Amino acid sequence: MPITHIPVMGQEILEALMVNSDGVYVDATIGLGGHTEGILQKAEGCTVIGIDRDEEALEITKERLKSGHLHLVKDRFSNMKPAVNELGYNEVDGILLDIGVSTLHLKADNRGFSFMKDEALDMRMDQEQKLTAEEVVNRYPEKELADLVWKYGEERFSRKIARAIVSSRLKKRITSCSELAAIIEKAVWRRGKIHPATRTFQALRIEVNRELEELQAAIDGGAGLLKKGGRLCVISYHSLEDRIVKHAFRQLAKEGVFNIITRKPLVPSRQERIINPSSRSAKLRVGEKI
Ligand SMILES: C[S@@+](CC[C@H](N)C(=O)[O-])C[C@H]1O[C@@H](n2cnc3c(N)ncnc32)[C@H](O)[C@@H]1O
Repeated sequence: MPITHIPVMGQEILEALMVNSDGVYVDATIGLGGHTEGILQKAEGCTVIGIDRDEEALEITKERLKSGHLHLVKDRFSNMKPAVNELGYNEVDGILLDIGVSTLHLKADNRGFSFMKDEALDMRMDQEQKLTAEEVVNRYPEKELADLVWKYGEERFSRKIARAIVSSRLKKRITSCSELAAIIEKAVWRRGKIHPATRTFQALRIEVNRELEELQAAIDGGAGLLKKGGRLCVISYHSLEDRIVKHAFRQLAKEGVFNIITRKPLVPSRQERIINPSSRSAKLRVGEKI
């Protein structure tokens, strides 16, 4: 069965983003193309530049959305401005960032993001990149591991987990997701419904893909690419990301670059959260170029 991704806050995005029916929009996290499909359906005259650093996602989207109005680019969104300029566009009407992992990362085989799977610890969104989660887990010094699990996973047992990883890798290199999940589960036994490896896996993913640095650079680059009146919509999924978006928007407002449209972030409706539980933690912030 083909892997599909239900676009989060699809209707809210179309309303917030599409200021111009024949505009140029950048879907900087096109993934499996859920949001872009909605944009192309809503306005036939518009153009979408879809960026992703995941080759596999781009291949699927290329097959799925055949449109003369869609350009697909493999790149990091921190490089959005030069990538869009290279296609001949100096400014755009709207930019969407729907950050984080996609269903593809969690469900496809051999991507190594999920602690439920017995496969190689990978977690690279861009498979041409060198650094993998296996490298981080087996090579980082204990203190560095503990710090990143604390900082990017907000995990209170970070030191215990780092110690368990180091003592285990002294006996044998840790190579699979399920192996790492079992080491963590043994070190900090399960409390409540959430698997004890959840936060550590989040931290490793953020580290491997430099997600927070990418996000900050994308907001700055995106703000420089928007036309007057153009919109930047960012959907984030955890507090670390949302904090960056909130502060970056405030800074842009202070500099007179942005009007913040969403004083408080928009969240999915109750109905959407029931239909698509992965939307549960989503927060949408929208800024408009002055
Ligand atoms: C949540 S998914 C997007 C799903 C998409 N909106 C849809 O409806 O199908 C996030 C996508 O962003 C991509 N991504 C994450 N960080 C990126 C970055 N720094 N540069 C480019 N793409 C990135 C991931 O590979 C993934 O495909």
